Order: sequence, then C-alpha cells, then structure tokens
Amino acid sequence: MKTAAIEIRGLSKSFTVNGEASEVLRDVSLTVAPGDIYGIIGRSGAGKSTLARCVNLLERPTAGQVFVSGQDVTHFAGRDLLDLRARIGMVFQDFNLFAQRTVLSNVSFPLEIRHDGAEARRARAQELLELVGLSDKAQSWPSQLSGGQQQRVAIARALANHPSIMLCDEVTSALDTTTTQSILDLLRNINRELGVTMLVITHAMSVVHRICNKVAVLDAGRVVETGTVADLFAHPQAAATRELLRADNGAATAVIATAAAATPTATRRPQHDAQEAGADHHVR
Ligand SMILES: Nc1ncnc2c1ncn2[C@@H]1O[C@H](COP(=O)(O)OP(=O)(O)OP(=O)(O)O)[C@@H](O)[C@H]1O
Ligand SMILES: [Mg+2]
Repeated sequence: MKTAAIEIRGLSKSFTVNGEASEVLRDVSLTVAPGDIYGIIGRSGAGKSTLARCVNLLERPTAGQVFVSGQDVTHFAGRDLLDLRARIGMVFQDFNLFAQRTVLSNVSFPLEIRHDGAEARRARAQELLELVGLSDKAQSWPSQLSGGQQQRVAIARALANHPSIMLCDEVTSALDTTTTQSILDLLRNINRELGVTMLVITHAMSVVHRICNKVAVLDAGRVVETGTVADLFAHPQAAATRELLRADNGAATAVIATAAAATPTATRRPQHDAQEAGADHHVR
C-alpha cells in the first residue's frame, strides 16, 4: 500500500469565543492518496476551511493527528513547520495577490523568502507563468488582470516551491462558469503533469464532478460520507450529500447523465471507508 499523501486521524478542533468552546470539527478521519484530487464538500460553516488549515497547521488540531507523506506533522514547529508549508501550496477564493508587486514578482515571492538568487527566481517564475498561460502578463499589475487571470497567478505562486500537495479553498467561487471550468482544467493538468496531490474545498458538487476522484462530505464538522466521486453521484447516502446535489443544478444534470450511462451489468463498489479507499483506488 502506498504511503498516503495526507492522512487525518480522529481530528477535532474547538474554538473558544467569549469563554465558550465550540467544536467545529469532530473526529474527522480521511486519507488522501498521492495523485488524488480529493474534494471536501459541505455547506457554509461545515468546517471545510478549518480542516484544510489543519493540514498545513495554520490551525492546530485540538485532538487527533495529521500525517503528511507518512510523517506525523501534528506538532511540527520552527524549521520543520516552514519546510512543511513549503511542501504544501495554498490557493484561496480571493486570490490574495500583492497589489504593489508585478505578476512576475508575485510568483517569485516564495523564492525570495528562501533567498534564491534573482536570476533563478525570475526563471522559475517565467516557467510557471508559461504553465498557467500568462507569459505575456509578467510585467502587469494584479489590478490589470481579470479574476481568472489573477487566480492563475495565485496558482503559479503556490507552485513556486515545487509543492507535492496543493490546498485549494473555494478557488473558483468568485469566478463565472466558463472561467471556473478553465481554472479547474488547469488544476487537473497540474495534477496530471506535475503529480501534485490536490485537496479541493468547495460547496459546489459541479466542482467535485469536474475534477475530483474522491470526496468527503462534511456536515456540521463531521464526515458523513466518503468514497469515489462516481459512487457518491450514483448512490448519495447522507442527507447532506443529497441536499448539496439538489443545490447545484450543474451537478444534478451530471447525476442524471451518470445514471443514464450506467448499464445493468455495471459493477459498483459499495460505499467504503476513506481509510481503505484512499490508498488503493484511482478513479478518474
Ligand atoms: N478563528 C476562529 N475562531 C472562532 N470560530 C471560528 C474560527 N474559524 C472558524 N470558526 C468557526 O468554525 C466554523 C467553521 O468555519 P469554516 O470557515 O471552517 O467553515 P467553511 O465550511 O469553510 O465555511 P464557508 O463555506 O462559508 O467557507 C464556523 O462556525 C466558524 O464561525
Ligand atoms: Mg471556507
């Protein structure tokens, strides 16, 4: 069995606000295999971003463990923590570009922190801008780019340190349908060509359907369903899953297409635990 890219074991997270503790993640366990595009889907407030932030320890779990490439990173600090974060790129809904830096300088910023030389930084940033289709925008300012272009810059910047994992938190939520699809296609190409494992946080089933191979449904801080995307769309089990499917017209259409494509002899794996699904199956 391959070593998991990310394994979360029995993770809980509480926040204390005005002296009162509220548990936003409860006993979450899931396994992301190398090469997965693993979707975490749930309603607003379900705990998706908190879970993603526990992977690179922007949030510290209250209980449980986080393993990255087989290593228990839960209590990492100092140099170990910086190295861990360099191995994990992160992209957000609102791009988070530096307005006072050119596109090229945004992309090379993580390499400045690492004290790479100016020429090496420039070459790597150019290479990444080519990868995301923005070679001609190197000297532009973020304000001169469309939302989709800005997200491409953010993706390029997240790749600067050659991460093996990318955390994508609602990266298409601010974009229109066509731009969303082109950004998702870009993420899939990065996954395939560079072998980057992706954790994709979303509230939209259509996003899961377009790029993910595995998915976990989070509801009020708990994982209520995990499995392959094909299984989830064909046989949604949890009420929360069905509700998310209903809420997303594009995905609902996909469900109908999935059902129509199924033949009577088609075999379907039963719902299985993420622990076993994670390491062994690659369905794309
Ligand atoms: N730093 C914090 N302090 C206190 N409560 C927090 C903090 N961060 C998140 N929460 C709470 O944790 C819960 C989960 O938040 P989280 O941002 O993880 O949800 P989400 O699923 O990403 O939602 P959305 O889809 O709206 O982004 C929410 O009730 C939120 O108010
Ligand atoms: Mg969120």
